[in-house]
Amino acid sequence: MSSGNDGRELAEGYLGGLLESLGLGVHYSRAERDALFYRDAAGAEVAVLDLVGGYGSTIVGHNHPEIVRYAKQLLDQGVPVHAQFSRHPYANDLAGRLNTILHREFGTTEAYSALFANSGAEAVEIAMKHAEFDRVAKLTALTAEIGRGVEAARAAIDRGAVVAVDEAYHRLGVAAGVSPGAAPEAVVAAIVRVNGERATAAPIFLAPEGSFHGKLVGSVQLTHNAGFREPFRSMAAQCRFVPVHEPEALAKAVESARTTLFDLVVAAGGVRVVERDLPVIAAFILEPVQGEAGIRPFDRETAQRIQRVCAAVDCPIIVDEVQSGMGRTGAFFASSHLGLRGDYYTLAKSLGGGLAKAALTLIRDSRYHREFELAHSSTFAKDAFSTLIAGRVVDLLEADDGALYRLAAERGERLTAMLRTLQDEFGTVVEDVRGAGLMIGLEFRDRSDSPSGIIAEQSRAGLLGYLLSGYLLRVHAIRVLPTASATNTLRIEPSVYVTDDDIALLEKGLRGLLVVLREHDGAALLPA
Ligand code: F0G
Repeated sequence: MSSGNDGRELAEGYLGGLLESLGLGVHYSRAERDALFYRDAAGAEVAVLDLVGGYGSTIVGHNHPEIVRYAKQLLDQGVPVHAQFSRHPYANDLAGRLNTILHREFGTTEAYSALFANSGAEAVEIAMKHAEFDRVAKLTALTAEIGRGVEAARAAIDRGAVVAVDEAYHRLGVAAGVSPGAAPEAVVAAIVRVNGERATAAPIFLAPEGSFHGKLVGSVQLTHNAGFREPFRSMAAQCRFVPVHEPEALAKAVESARTTLFDLVVAAGGVRVVERDLPVIAAFILEPVQGEAGIRPFDRETAQRIQRVCAAVDCPIIVDEVQSGMGRTGAFFASSHLGLRGDYYTLAKSLGGGLAKAALTLIRDSRYHREFELAHSSTFAKDAFSTLIAGRVVDLLEADDGALYRLAAERGERLTAMLRTLQDEFGTVVEDVRGAGLMIGLEFRDRSDSPSGIIAEQSRAGLLGYLLSGYLLRVHAIRVLPTASATNTLRIEPSVYVTDDDIALLEKGLRGLLVVLREHDGAALLPA
């Protein structure tokens, strides 16, 4: 039977070619713990030390024996995968356990409801949609109140009241072209028109520069990288990216987004125009440790400032823990190190234990709209198989009073110490080592001016990190990859089970790479 391919690669063939040219076109046929295996030309199995997993989705490693055993058990039991619109007690159990963790790490007692998704990007979009649902509810209440104010003013005008000409009147004049002395009916009509335009404007999201929150139509607009975002900008609500480390930047961004609706109040001396704040910002979203921007943890001071500015204008905060959560930084929630309390938390990646597609969004009670549960759903979300596995992953992380969190912190320190030694030794090549726990970035200095044509060219094309990854894979059987939007930074995000031997192997491989870069030996980086 014909395969239908006619020798062509039909599953993302362009990407396949790119991987091939960088020496990354390997087909892995088996995985366990921090190892991926492929077969060489002679058919022998070759082990690769995998330090990225699904970019941070293997906190308990590939095919953890206990998770695999449990998955088999579930299949043997014939657990129903598809049973939408029925009761899911295991989902409630998982939500309960996540609440226990959240309460412990953030010192709160407020409940968070869980909504289930299939991917990190979908979890982000659930938060976006719910935040917009909440904003629209506030806006609807506000416009209804204004409607009542305008009606009362109309009645007063009918009784002969005049509209006072003050500052708010002048601002209305600028917005709607009514001048002092206009008929009161004209003022009312202008208010209705301006409010109608302003209230239907699209919401705005705010995020720190460098943010990455996925690549679906909505979430990609919260992803700073212009290459991912720009082609699709007209498809979804827009995000303003804020240099949040500058002390005044967020407050300024909030102020510049500020919009008002006009209202009328009846007072003793007549009718007055007043302005009411329109909730235009749907949410502020951030990653506690920025992943794709080059593994950049937030500092406590910046996080606290964000919390204060958002609280002052009642702007909800979405904490995206898709990559940083599930214990990777030494606590279940990376944001707990910052004391940053979210209105929303997103979880995915490691939640499925490296085996299942599991994701969810936690929404705090004080903002939660129960009706939203009928507004978002998806075929596979909350299915028994992935949700039960997620529950088992949480059990593993929580076992022995959080032994795996402590292990993540300890392994992270050990890895970081090794990388810092290399930084000291190869200061002309290594720019920085940074991160939190087992989410570590190793940044290389820019090599655009290297005497090696290959190195200079790949640097200028933003592909240096991929070239370095190809070298480490080919020569040292180590899998690391650059972060998506800062390609001079290699990410190191192994499981908590990464061994001293693994760390020694990485040190040896990196040492080889650093010598190649120091000597500008471009040929050594290219596949044969
Ligand atoms: N949020 C964050 C913080 C992420 O790092 C990612 C994906 C997503 C959301 C989207 O999750 O892929 O399950 O839809 N991160 C990187 C990536 C590592 O492209 O794999 P998703």
